[in-house]
Amino acid sequence: MKDAVIGRSVQELDTPALLVDLDALESNIETMAAFFRARPAHVRPHVKSHKLPQIARMQVAAGAPGVCAAKLGEAEAMVDGGISDVLIANQVVGEAKIARLGSLVERARISVAVDDPENVAALSRAAKERGVTLGVLVEMDVGMNRCGVNGQDAALRLVRRIVDRPGLEFRGLMGYEGHVMRIKEAAERQEMCMEAMRELTLAAAHVGNHGIPVGEVSGGGTLTYDVSGSYPGITEVQAGSYALMDTNFRDAGSPFRCAMTVLTSVISTPRKGVAIADAGMKSVATDFGLPEITARPGVALRKLSEEHAGLEVAAGATVRPGDRLEILPSHGCTTVNLHDVAYAVRSGRVQEVWPITGRGKSQ
Ligand SMILES: Cc1ncc(COP(=O)(O)O)c(C=O)c1O
Repeated sequence: MKDAVIGRSVQELDTPALLVDLDALESNIETMAAFFRARPAHVRPHVKSHKLPQIARMQVAAGAPGVCAAKLGEAEAMVDGGISDVLIANQVVGEAKIARLGSLVERARISVAVDDPENVAALSRAAKERGVTLGVLVEMDVGMNRCGVNGQDAALRLVRRIVDRPGLEFRGLMGYEGHVMRIKEAAERQEMCMEAMRELTLAAAHVGNHGIPVGEVSGGGTLTYDVSGSYPGITEVQAGSYALMDTNFRDAGSPFRCAMTVLTSVISTPRKGVAIADAGMKSVATDFGLPEITARPGVALRKLSEEHAGLEVAAGATVRPGDRLEILPSHGCTTVNLHDVAYAVRSGRVQEVWPITGRGKSQ
């Protein structure tokens, strides 16, 4: 069934279907890799966006030492898909998950973020019992008000809890400046990002000054990769959305190409000026606002319900049931999560069908 569509035109695919344009994807991976080739830091791409081992393997082939995952389940999907080095840039808490983490460490080089001493103790017990070494990065809150310890003294205190614990290896500090991504004005965003990176690197120096070597100092995202990736002392950038992109990042001025669309079919043209297509919010996410119709002049997406897209058709434009349209998502990460497979496409033809094995892996 999967093989039946390979080599065919995307126009023959059933809909709704998630498409990945390989030319745009490869260009994005190369743009990011080229930036870091000239710098001491590296990118460790975050897979929470694409959730696809196939793309992760392309990113590693372009020079990344491994990837980041948001969840243990995503990390498992990546290791199953051949990735041998994963940073879970998040806390792994609770007996059931720590047991799964222990078996994952037997199969790959795994690191995890921590911000709590009891969690550190639980991770150490589990790693020791299995006779494995789990990498640990202390997460700092650098202004986002999400997870992370506050301040360099708190970071040092937690690092000290890690260094002598059996089963754990202290691998560095991380701090994600997610609060700056919503700042529209580029200069202000840059300044806030530098402030966050300053806090993170000062904490790394503080830990280092107490005789504890800090391996990675990890932060950054798609909108700040150039600022955080050039900041002295930052060794690793966790950008992820750059691979597939979305209109949200495009509108914020990101240089990467939109590589993902949702193919949809018109199913009804009930009134003059109106068409209805078969991709609703179960096929394309709306948490960052309405997505867009692309490459179809005179047709605009006006609303989404669960399984329907409401389109406005300008005078002079013609749309008929059965017509195929492409939608550019406003939020790539949550859109990918709605699909079982991605169709990898070049010049309008399906090259490969990728099961999105990290999809829905929120545990
Ligand atoms: C911990 C962490 N690192 C990095 C990122 C960067 O992601 P993006 O490339 O989408 O900016 C995120 C985004 O949510 C994140 O949560």
